[in-house]
Amino acid sequence: MNILITGASKGIGRAIAQELKKLGNIYVTARNEKALQELRPADYFLCDLSNEYELSKLGDFIADKKIDVLVNNAGEYIYSDIDKTTINKLNHIIAVNLKAPIYLMNKAIPYMKGKKWGRIINIGSISGVMGEAHASLYSATKAGLIGLSKASGLELAEYGITVNTINPGWVDTELGKCSINESEFSEKEILECIPQRRFVEPKEVAGLVKYLISEEAKGITGQSINLCAGLSVGI
Ligand SMILES: NC(=O)c1ccc[n+]([C@@H]2O[C@H](COP(=O)([O-])OP(=O)(O)OC[C@H]3O[C@@H](n4cnc5c(N)ncnc54)[C@H](OP(=O)(O)O)[C@@H]3O)[C@@H](O)[C@H]2O)c1
Repeated sequence: MNILITGASKGIGRAIAQELKKLGNIYVTARNEKALQELRPADYFLCDLSNEYELSKLGDFIADKKIDVLVNNAGEYIYSDIDKTTINKLNHIIAVNLKAPIYLMNKAIPYMKGKKWGRIINIGSISGVMGEAHASLYSATKAGLIGLSKASGLELAEYGITVNTINPGWVDTELGKCSINESEFSEKEILECIPQRRFVEPKEVAGLVKYLISEEAKGITGQSINLCAGLSVGI
């Protein structure tokens, strides 16, 4: 297996890279070179996903490496009222969270189709399932990934390619901490809203990715899977 993981320099992406390393050749991408090198991957590619030129070069890298497992994990969070945002913020978050995953799928799928096997996992968010006040741009991009995975899962079913979205709740990472700090709630108040009264750990997301790329999970496609310590179910 040739596996590419975006946003592998820290947090959830790093945990996924560490978990999947045992299964095949790991290719990683992000902006922090040192952190990518530390993973000792088969190869890495430095890329700012908001930069169209760099994104297109990453697309070439993917086609060249014959990637058959694509994990679109990289993402940014933005806390901004819908009426206070700017066109630049809007373009940036859509470019990183939605346009880049679509483009990278576009570059990976031809090889997967030829092989009649492939796995694509998009990391969404529970904010794209439930909605998150003051994070409508972020929620919209993450909901977009769910639609993308459903439609492309249908389109690619006959080629043995599965496409799924994992929607984490609050995960204990830099992005998770930043979203708590920017919100109007304290960490204690947030924990009180989570049925399991805890944050999800990056390794739990990595474990689910590992399952979704396994032979046993070949029947799971187009799905939107919540990994949120019960957050999406109710209080
Ligand atoms: N943590 C949570 O609570 C939570 C909850 C739900 C969903 N998620 C989703 O899970 C995914 C991973 O989040 P995380 O919590 O692990 O975040 P994180 O710790 O902040 O890591 C984000 C990763 O994405 C990369 N990245 C960010 N912007 C990039 C850009 N413009 N170009 C290239 N790479 C970029 C970062 O790499 P560099 O900085 O090295 O470029 C880093 O490797 C995201 O899609 C996030 O939306 C997280």
